[in-house]
Amino acid sequence: VPLHLPWIDAIASLKKERGAVIMAHSYQSPEIFHGVADITGDSLALAQAAAKCDSDLIVLCGVHFMAESAKILAPDKTVLIPDMQAGCSLASSITAEDVRALRAQHPGVPVVSYVNTSAAVKAESDACCTSANAVHMVNAVAAEFGVNQVIFLPDRYLGAWVATQTPVELVLWHGQCEVHEKFTAMEARHTRERFDAKIVAHPECSPEVLAEADFVGSTSAMGKWLEKEKPVRVAMITECSMADNLRNQFPQVEFIKPCNLCPHMKRITLPNIHACLRDMRNEIHVPEDVIVRARKALDRMLAVGR
Ligand code: 13P
Ligand code: SF4
Repeated sequence: VPLHLPWIDAIASLKKERGAVIMAHSYQSPEIFHGVADITGDSLALAQAAAKCDSDLIVLCGVHFMAESAKILAPDKTVLIPDMQAGCSLASSITAEDVRALRAQHPGVPVVSYVNTSAAVKAESDACCTSANAVHMVNAVAAEFGVNQVIFLPDRYLGAWVATQTPVELVLWHGQCEVHEKFTAMEARHTRERFDAKIVAHPECSPEVLAEADFVGSTSAMGKWLEKEKPVRVAMITECSMADNLRNQFPQVEFIKPCNLCPHMKRITLPNIHACLRDMRNEIHVPEDVIVRARKALDRMLAVGR
């Protein structure tokens, strides 16, 4: 930690000078999550924060689609991302053209997109969701459109899990999270047996892994589950930094890894946050017409909430 202190101090003074607010996703490293962020949380919490942000400058420590969502929800603000290359295998699995083709194949079926998509894909969607409200959003959209079928994209594992929680029939896409798809059922079982640990898994994991879990839930739901259950030992089957960041909040819980790092989330570092603020570099731009259409899909999600 002492190594990080000069960076944390330098970022704090630049942040003050610029009047910036720093938002960080739960998958950011602890020195960012605890050291420099003003607002932390899952993708839904960051979107909600951007929508009501009163600072003119947002630095989004997360991946590109999160920074785009912030820009769509706060179009008059300047949104910076410390590394433009911080992508996401889910967001890059589908294009706006793919969504139009899906609609043509399934006329009249509404589209619910996971926020892990580009602004252009959101603009082709009826509503967005995160893993925290996916079931809720699918039910709400089916009811609003008076249908019993919804196109759910792009994560096939999240989609398969949502399908077990709703009577609505889902048309799925074949996207996968390159981090969560790596976990195996054998690894989860081994961790439970060897360490006598509770298994908590993110719904972006495969159905075989989820079948081994004591609890399946989004980033925010995992935290709430820990608060309620207070397990002695737990393995968080998700991105590594989740456990690191929760450790402070739950000092009595022993966190067992397996975990996998998201290489995109880990592109964000204290030096590039500092450089981004110093040089006002890496500003997010989304075309006006895309903002207007994507905003409708995000607003439907914010109206439903968690
Ligand atoms: P949330 O649980 O915050 O929606 O995020 C999952 C994820 O993989 C973000 O990249
Ligand atoms: Fe995308 Fe998976 Fe990384 Fe999240 S953890 S940003 S879903 S690749």
